[in-house]
Amino acid sequence: MRSLALPGDGTTRIRLALYFTKGLGDVVAAESAAIVPASVLLQEGDRFLVVAMTAAEAAHIGGRARTIDDARLLVAGPERINSEDGFAALCAAAARRVRRILAPGDGEPAGPCSITLSARSPVWRESPAWDPAPILARHFPGADLRATVRSPVDLRVQADEDKVHIALNLWSRPIGKRGDDGPARPGALRRTVAAALLRLAIRDVDPDVTMHGVYDPFCGTGTVVAEAARLGLPVFASDIDERAVQIARDQLAGELAGSPPGAAGALRHRVFAHDVRRGPPRRVSARVVVGNMPWGKQVKVDGRLALFDATTLLTGHLLRDGGAVAFLTTSEDALIARLRRQRLEVFSRRIGLLGQTPAIVMARTR
Ligand SMILES: C[S@@+](CC[C@H](N)C(=O)[O-])C[C@H]1O[C@@H](n2cnc3c(N)ncnc32)[C@H](O)[C@@H]1O
Repeated sequence: MRSLALPGDGTTRIRLALYFTKGLGDVVAAESAAIVPASVLLQEGDRFLVVAMTAAEAAHIGGRARTIDDARLLVAGPERINSEDGFAALCAAAARRVRRILAPGDGEPAGPCSITLSARSPVWRESPAWDPAPILARHFPGADLRATVRSPVDLRVQADEDKVHIALNLWSRPIGKRGDDGPARPGALRRTVAAALLRLAIRDVDPDVTMHGVYDPFCGTGTVVAEAARLGLPVFASDIDERAVQIARDQLAGELAGSPPGAAGALRHRVFAHDVRRGPPRRVSARVVVGNMPWGKQVKVDGRLALFDATTLLTGHLLRDGGAVAFLTTSEDALIARLRRQRLEVFSRRIGLLGQTPAIVMARTR
């Protein structure tokens, strides 16, 4: 975390913007409150939350959060912006604040920075349209507006229609991308979404049930089970693809290497090749099932229905004595209908991911 020139009595609160995948705000709010119980939730947007906490507490969020894509210091807004002049005033306020934070006392300009514009139906596209770029360039001289790599000072300008805010990075990398330094894992689920999917599955489940373990029958590279292992839960993971199974094994071994000796997850984990259409696997005691189902072109349409039948059968089998499931899928209706036939209580929600709106379908025993 950068050393911030903030009032240093340790009790003064700063405002943080927490960014997340659309549709997961409640999971992020719960995680933030669990890490910093004294935090205060000030505002809820559908892609960010504003929370108040001390700088030291913000450092805890940066070190521990799993579901949050990024946490930044709010330097201006969120404010309703109705004109170019209003946007210029917001930028001027942000620039003053950034200068005070980075060069306390002498008021020197903060130096070059990168700026990311994250905009949904932004106010500047309304009629008459105007361009935010020259205004940003005026207030942040030398700013790189097309940066693909963060400068040490990186600002995010987020516009949700006419509500705009500007936030300053606290770390050199977004917290949701920490530890992503290994080789790229094609098809891997975004780590923060995997963490949220898992938390949604276990959130209303009795801890005795959770301690039987978590099973991902479509584990791919193992992103979901790595999160479960981090929580100290026994894990079971399988995939039809042998190469994916090996990557998942390696990823899990890396995760478990850091667990305390004797932790439940370290004692019990099993990663194996298995085609879900061949029926429930043997020797899986988990009663929580979490997975990112094959998407779109990964499975032909006729094969997809067979896969949903098999997944539902597997769910019914593992949840016969109670438990819960959460699947990420692009075929929400087909899965919901089948899970309901198993007499399970079913809920779903859409999230925004990679330009699509897949659903998280959750089910639990009544
Ligand atoms: C969307 S990917 C999961 C990605 C994973 N969550 C990750 O982070 O890497 C779906 C996975 O389902 C697997 N799959 C497809 N058909 C399957 C089947 N019949 N049985 C088991 N796994 C299957 C694919 O090999 C693929 O790895």
